[in-house]
Amino acid sequence: MTYEEFKEKVTSYGQEHLIKLYERLDEKGKAKLLSQVAGIDFDGVRKLFELTKEKKEFKDFKIEPVEATDASALSEEQKNEYIEIGTEAIKNGKLAVVMMAGGQGTRLGHSGPKGTYEFGLDGHTTIFETYIRQFKEAEEKYGVAVPWYIMTSKDNNMETIEFFYNHDYFGYEEGIKTFFSQNELPMLDEEGRLIVGEDGLIKEAANGHGGVFEALVSNGVLEQFKQKGIEWVFICGVDNILARVIDPLALGYSIKKGLLATSVSCIKANPEEKVGVLCIKDGKPSVVEYTELTDELRYAKKENGELLLSEGHLLMNLFNVNVISDIAKEELPYHVAHKKSDIVDEEGNVIKPDSPNAYKFETFIFDAFDRLPVLGVLRYKREECFAPIKNAEGVDSPETARKLYKDYYKL
Ligand code: UD1
Repeated sequence: MTYEEFKEKVTSYGQEHLIKLYERLDEKGKAKLLSQVAGIDFDGVRKLFELTKEKKEFKDFKIEPVEATDASALSEEQKNEYIEIGTEAIKNGKLAVVMMAGGQGTRLGHSGPKGTYEFGLDGHTTIFETYIRQFKEAEEKYGVAVPWYIMTSKDNNMETIEFFYNHDYFGYEEGIKTFFSQNELPMLDEEGRLIVGEDGLIKEAANGHGGVFEALVSNGVLEQFKQKGIEWVFICGVDNILARVIDPLALGYSIKKGLLATSVSCIKANPEEKVGVLCIKDGKPSVVEYTELTDELRYAKKENGELLLSEGHLLMNLFNVNVISDIAKEELPYHVAHKKSDIVDEEGNVIKPDSPNAYKFETFIFDAFDRLPVLGVLRYKREECFAPIKNAEGVDSPETARKLYKDYYKL
């Protein structure tokens, strides 16, 4: 893009503030800004800004509880049948794990990728390292190194790759296949202008974990799955150290029931717990995110006194590879987050806000559920599957997760 083209483009989209900011940059910076502007879909940015003015009203939808299969209530015979089917599929190399590790450990006060956070299980154990136990146990049990793919963001990709390299892949080099990055979207201020950061460039942020589908396709990972005969992909977040990443029961359950996707759940600890809830929205499988749940729905009870929406979505979902390319074809809806972000104004001053001043746009993986005819839901006991590390202290902290992990593995 030439300077003239840049000027015309930003002017026609009401982003003239970028012209003054361009002047302040050195030659390298100028070239970078031009290439950023060339890559931005300005009509798309306008649409994103329109979203910030919409108020989501959940009462417009019919929300009903979802049916779940309780793993602990399965008969021994049924359970064994599922496990046998799942085991066979794992042994035949049909399962891969995709871990969404695009997030930073900001809430934990950690400056690197969240997976590199040392939560002190036994000395300097990091979050990433805890999953190695499951991969190695499975390798021994099934005779295959289940491939582990790690989705990073542009921000933390190099750091994540270096981390594994520096730790010799924790002895699982054969299984750790690929690091691939999700895309980014620009951040906007309250007037819909592209935000510029301290480096003088447009601030962009990871596009949410819904970006995993598009990233699997555009990075050629889905194609790799197909070539390798991988049929099932377990897609999970990075921060639940009890995530059952290689689970023959969930896999056998999905295969036997002819499902295209299964979500692993547990019952919410209390109505306020910060987890999304699996539900049926207007007749289709869905999740209402905890930030978007109205109080009316949060506290609604069934006749028997149980919470109406209690099936916690743990970001542990098993997908058949055949649905991934279909899902990736159509954009997922965007969710808007209002955040605090340092901004450089037209005069080059850095503004550090006291209250939210910026919009960030994300898609969520679970918004793809309504594209499925059915979603299987397999419920475990919380202590068997959920030990999240989200906050530095208190609920869902390293301390609580450490205890849950040690109790589960009897350490
Ligand atoms: C998330 C889920 C919530 C679920 C809870 C379970 C969302 C929006 N909500 O909440 O429904 O009940 O976990 O613990 O995710 N990530 C990326 N790229 C991104 C954004 C996130 O890879 O662009 C990854 C993070 O690294 C992390 C996971 O997604 O592993 C969850 O992200 P986070 O923003 O921490 O979600 P929560 O608010 O904890």
